[in-house]
Amino acid sequence: MKSKNKKYLIITLCILVISIVTLVFSNIKKEDEDLAVIAEKVNNTIIPKPLNYKEAEGKFTLNKDTKIYVKGNTEEETTEITKIAEYLKEKLSPSTGYEFTIVKNEVPSGNSIYLTTVEGKEEMGNEGYELTTTVDGIILKAYKPEGLFRGIQTIRQLLPAEIAKSNIVNNVEWSIPASTINDKPEYPYRGFMIDVARHFFPEDVIKQQIDYAAQYKINRLHLHLTDDQGWRIEIKKYPDLTLIGGSTQVGGGPGGYYTQEQFKSIVQYAADRYIEIIPEVDMPGHTNAALASYGFLNPDGKKKPLYTGIDVGFSTLMTDNEKTYEFIEDVVKEISAISPSKYFHMGGDEADSTKKEDYDYFVGRVSKIVQKYGKTPIGWDPIDTAPEINSSTILQNWKDSNEAAREKNMNMIISIASKAYLDMKYNSATPYGLDWAGYIPVETAYNWDPTDYAPRNLVLGIESPLWTENIATEDEMEFMIYPRLLGYSEIGWTPKSSRNWSEYKVRLERQGPRMENEGINYYKDKSIWKNK
Ligand code: ACM
Repeated sequence: MKSKNKKYLIITLCILVISIVTLVFSNIKKEDEDLAVIAEKVNNTIIPKPLNYKEAEGKFTLNKDTKIYVKGNTEEETTEITKIAEYLKEKLSPSTGYEFTIVKNEVPSGNSIYLTTVEGKEEMGNEGYELTTTVDGIILKAYKPEGLFRGIQTIRQLLPAEIAKSNIVNNVEWSIPASTINDKPEYPYRGFMIDVARHFFPEDVIKQQIDYAAQYKINRLHLHLTDDQGWRIEIKKYPDLTLIGGSTQVGGGPGGYYTQEQFKSIVQYAADRYIEIIPEVDMPGHTNAALASYGFLNPDGKKKPLYTGIDVGFSTLMTDNEKTYEFIEDVVKEISAISPSKYFHMGGDEADSTKKEDYDYFVGRVSKIVQKYGKTPIGWDPIDTAPEINSSTILQNWKDSNEAAREKNMNMIISIASKAYLDMKYNSATPYGLDWAGYIPVETAYNWDPTDYAPRNLVLGIESPLWTENIATEDEMEFMIYPRLLGYSEIGWTPKSSRNWSEYKVRLERQGPRMENEGINYYKDKSIWKNK
């Protein structure tokens, strides 16, 4: 080729490449803009995204005379719905300054929010609801009171963000766009976990986190109650578990524990928000706090020293000693008596100091103890690989290894560390958290689906765990949980086919002021909140 022709060819090729790149980028940008316009138009900032949202003409505006009406199919149900109405009132009164009088068993006549299970359809399931807003008022209908509780979270999010303030806000029109929403969750299990063993968090902190999570329709909180660094639940037969085993934490701070009364109070507070507390006693590894409390749990009969570092895999219960199983049975019995959840989490992870055959024997035997007390065992992988573990146990899958669970048809809770761990840093600049499973930016946390890891029919749902090796305060905890928990709530609630990062991002951005007004110390990701 002549050099002049070659030059033209190179120039033409360059122009072509530049044009294609420009076209692709402008299309991506346009797609983002289109989605933003859609989100704007439907005024739908709701997270998790409802299954079905139909816009109508007009709006309903709350005022000082707006009343909340309640009616169930039975008196008992009406009483339960009244409690839900009181909760709604608690959330709407501080910022509006309105009273929201609750009226029982009457049919409303306008300017009202009507919460009812009358004519609620069974196909809505326990958590589904139908929310109709017209210029006259709001009708929220569900098959069960639980569905009404999920539905009032949607009402809160349809109101202006100032609704989340704790002081009276004037000059805001408290209106909701006229619309019909039909909604129900994709998965029955939508949880998060707090490790209260590595760092202890008192009752009021846990309750605050429960109340925050409830607005995103989260329905499970798993409490990781025991680990090498601390035992956090009072066991009356073994007081030293908490007196000694609960006396410190990572870094050597004073630690702490929940009395059984405090634990019951957390359970009740969560139940009032339709959140189930799942207790975990991690074993046979992650047990140094127990080994430090009682000599009889150790081969030499002597108590181990307390541990305040962050290594894992060095401790084990004696799997061939009957005293171990008597101890476990006593612990399971006491916790089961104060824990209404049908689940009991028996740990089973990182038992690196337990021989595989001993581990298999141990988890098989403990799963039977748990079932003896009427509970369904949950265990971290590799619990599924033990021969005696079958489909009556649930796998909490944190590594990408669940072949045995698939073969055995075990139900699974998906918590893949590289996607769902709330303690992983967002990026290299994140001041706390760990990075052994990689960074988890907000987009990565949102952009996956449990069916990437397990067959749909075996997936019970998802859970995002917050391990607390280097998370020591409530502020740090919130920074790691928020805003990622919103994405996890949507993965659990909204079908995969309705989820899209670009559109989600618009809704997430609008949640910022709400979280701020509530006082949540969320991570203000620059790619979402550009001006924060
Ligand atoms: C785990 O992260 N050790 C379950």
